[in-house]
This record gives sequence, structure tokens and C-alpha cells, in this order.
Amino acid sequence: MNVYSAILRRRSIRRYKEQPIPESVVYKLIDAARLAPSAGNVQPLEFVTICSPEGCEMVFPTLKWARHIQSGDTPPEGKRPTAYVIVLINRHVMSKGGGHEAGAAVQNIMLEALEEGLGTCWLRSIDRAGLSEKLGVPDKYEIDSVVAIGKPAEAPMTEAIKNDTVYWRDDRGVMHVPKRVTDNIHHREKF
Ligand SMILES: Cc1cc2nc3c(=O)[nH]c(=O)nc-3n(C[C@H](O)[C@H](O)[C@H](O)COP(=O)(O)O)c2cc1C
Repeated sequence: MNVYSAILRRRSIRRYKEQPIPESVVYKLIDAARLAPSAGNVQPLEFVTICSPEGCEMVFPTLKWARHIQSGDTPPEGKRPTAYVIVLINRHVMSKGGGHEAGAAVQNIMLEALEEGLGTCWLRSIDRAGLSEKLGVPDKYEIDSVVAIGKPAEAPMTEAIKNDTVYWRDDRGVMHVPKRVTDNIHHREKF
């Protein structure tokens, strides 16, 4: 898959097939993450990976899914992620900031996951204190993001924005994701 196709195809996945994800695949995702750009090449990020069913069960309740859908959109039992990457910023390496680095790393993870046939969802609505405690994360690290991973069991639809940016699930359970249209956000040569 070329990069542009992957970018076009990637959508947040919130329904998964409960198939285990090999550690070797998750390792590759971290390898993709570590090569993301970093201001001054300071590289403040570290990663915790979770592939075991017990680990996944522990992480799941610390996450909030799709808060823009009024009733929430938490993956039901049997459709939950089967792996996670937790993205940490080492505050002894970078005392503040690091969000751009985390974002670039997460995007690398999501695109490489797609290449591996996996779906992902980037989450920042996290019970950080709870998750840090469960994972034994030392104080000098801050949890920036969690990437949920698994074999996709849904195919969200990208569509041109009509009224607003709110994504929604239809009666058949298909997620619709409105995106702004290129010509409405592109300014040639000057604004
Ligand atoms: C910084 C950031 C934080 C996000 N946090 C959450 C989250 O906590 N829970 C969730 O379900 N989705 C989260 N998302 C996913 C967005 O809802 C999703 O990217 C958006 O609806 C657009 O859909 P798409 O990823 O399919 O393009 C987050 C995305 C970003 C970029």
C-alpha cells in the first residue's frame, strides 16, 4: 500500500475482531514510532505495549470512546482491542511539550498498523492516574496517548462535510466521518 492510499484509507476503528496480535507486529509499530520526527532530535518518547488478554482487560476501562457520540461508542464485549501502545513522554528528557512528537509517533503507528491489516484508534481521553498505577509507570513519565489496536470489524465511511464535524453511527451501525473538503481549506499563494 502506498502512503497516500494508507492516509486515505485510515479511519478510527472502534469495533475489532477478538484475534490476538503477534508481539512481532506490535514491535514493528514501535519501530515505526521511534523514527518519527522530534524537535532537536531530543526523542522524549517511550512506549508500553500490551498484547495479552489480561493486559487488554486492564487497559480497557481506563479509556473513553467517541465522546462526541451522545450515548458513547464504547466497543462492546467481543469487539474490543486486542493490543495497545501507550505513548509516554519522559519529563526528565523534555520537561514540557512533546505533544507534537507524540502525535507524529502515533500517526506512524496507525499507518504502519494499517499496512499490517490492523485498525487503530488514537485515544487521549484516558484515566491517566489509573492507567499509570496499573502499568507501574514511574513518576518522571507522562502518559500522552493510547493507541488501541486490533483486526477491524467495521469499515467507517469518509464523507464530505455537510453541516458539522460530528461523526455518527447510522441504524446499521456504520460510522460516518465528515471531513472538510480540500478546496475549502486550501489557500493558493496567499490567503
Ligand atoms: C488528539 C486526539 C485524541 C483523540 N482521542 C480520542 C479518544 O479519547 N477517544 C476516541 O474514541 N477517539 C479519539 N480520537 C479519535 C477521533 O475521534 C477521530 O480521529 C476523529 O473522529 C476523526 O476520525 P478518523 O480518525 O476516522 O479520521 C482522538 C483523535 C485525536 C487526533
